Amino acid sequence: MFCRPKLGKILAIERYLEYFRMKWIKDLYKMKKILAFAGSNSSSSINFELVKYTTNLLETYEIQLLNMVDYQLPMYSIDVENTHGFSAIVKQLKENIQNADGLVIAVNEHNGGPSAYFKNMLDWLSRLDRNFLKEKKVLLMATSPGRGGGSGALEIVKRTLPFFGGEVVATFSLPSFNHNFDQEQGITEIGLAKDHKKVLQQFSAQI
Ligand SMILES: Cc1cc2nc3c(=O)[nH]c(=O)nc-3n(C[C@H](O)[C@H](O)[C@H](O)COP(=O)(O)O)c2cc1C
Repeated sequence: MFCRPKLGKILAIERYLEYFRMKWIKDLYKMKKILAFAGSNSSSSINFELVKYTTNLLETYEIQLLNMVDYQLPMYSIDVENTHGFSAIVKQLKENIQNADGLVIAVNEHNGGPSAYFKNMLDWLSRLDRNFLKEKKVLLMATSPGRGGGSGALEIVKRTLPFFGGEVVATFSLPSFNHNFDQEQGITEIGLAKDHKKVLQQFSAQI
């Protein structure tokens, strides 16, 4: 014999389904967070310019943009660590990284490698937590006024970030910054602008 389910039971099931429907909608529309910064602490950093331009193109994300001028760190030494511990800035950086779904970084090149500033930052973070980039996807870029486009620094940092658990999912080097970049228009060379767009798509697909 067919038994009609009780009204209370039907309402409970409906509430249950509604809960999952709302959760699904919230997850679908939750904006992913991207933390973006340059490897340079220069107030006129061209890598910061590239980072700003790039994040402006990542429209469907919540962007946290850091200007490293505000993140000055003492030079790492075990003595400084033992005497003063970790500065609030290192702890803040680590928290910002942890809260992000993905990272956009553009490193500057000094003498064929990353700047002392950026290396120092990695050293401090690695002392605070060896796995400070755990499962973080990274779009890694570099630019310089020269034809190399900071590719020496980019290659070294690309190999280094996995030590800390990071995964570099896309890379882009912009050569001859002053020739190929305009404050208003961004990347002006068509081929490079296309490559940059492709790299953004690659990154977006991964986070
Ligand atoms: C100490 C020093 C070393 C540099 N070495 C290189 C280099 O090896 N390759 C390069 O392309 N540019 C080099 N440059 C030029 C930088 O790429 C240029 O200063 C650039 O603006 C740095 O990026 P930023 O403005 O984001 O700090 C060097 C600059 C300095 C101050």
